[in-house]
Amino acid sequence: MKKREVHIVGNWKMHQTLVEISHFFIEMSKMKMELKCKAWIAPQSIHIPILKEIAFTTGSIQIGAQNCCEHESGAYTGEVSPLALADIGVEFVIIGHSERRSIYGEKNEVLNKKVLLALKHGLKVIYCVGETLAEREAEQTFNVIENQLSIGLRNVTPESAHLLMIAYEPVWAIGTGKTATAEQAEEVHAHIRTKLKLNAEQTIILYGGSVKPDNIDSLLRQENIDGALVGGASLKAQDFRALCSSASTAMM
Ligand code: PGA
Repeated sequence: MKKREVHIVGNWKMHQTLVEISHFFIEMSKMKMELKCKAWIAPQSIHIPILKEIAFTTGSIQIGAQNCCEHESGAYTGEVSPLALADIGVEFVIIGHSERRSIYGEKNEVLNKKVLLALKHGLKVIYCVGETLAEREAEQTFNVIENQLSIGLRNVTPESAHLLMIAYEPVWAIGTGKTATAEQAEEVHAHIRTKLKLNAEQTIILYGGSVKPDNIDSLLRQENIDGALVGGASLKAQDFRALCSSASTAMM
């Protein structure tokens, strides 16, 4: 029995066509399953309204975004404002995913602006942290993560702290098939919890990085792992459902 509600969050990245999306939900609806965990999906932004509509009819899945702009409105061609996300009823946004950090050069300072603005608009924020392989090998894991937390979460207020979630995603485990062992992940999760200044005991801390139906159970058995942020294995209804089923069992 977990202390905190278990969340399975699918990060669809830049995948899924309309046909694949409809196939995913048809498969999901065939598998009649009572969800005891929270099941969330972050599709490409353009698909959010479509998924919201389908999710509304199927009931149990909440829809969010993979990123947002650090500005509320203005001349920022190609960006998506957290205000616009809140406006269309988006529930959550992922901020600081390692692909945003490494491919798009997003630094902790700009991520902090995104976090504060998204919280201001009442969005739940999944703030991602994690070390590269080189940083782990240089025994810098805790330093890197402390830095990501202290700058990225600067000025978060006690009033909005309940909207904040953390995802620990070791960069070397994302999309590589290499998962941190449950013990390695738990060590970092426990450390993150000690470093959170607000709402530490209640904050949901997800693990991400090659989570699959066959490794989720051992991760969820860890005291400080409250769910998973899942890329590849969230794209197939069967796998996503299996992850949700494990998470539902962990809730009982
Ligand atoms: P993965 O991706 O599950 O495919 O490793 C996780 C993520 O990038 O959030």
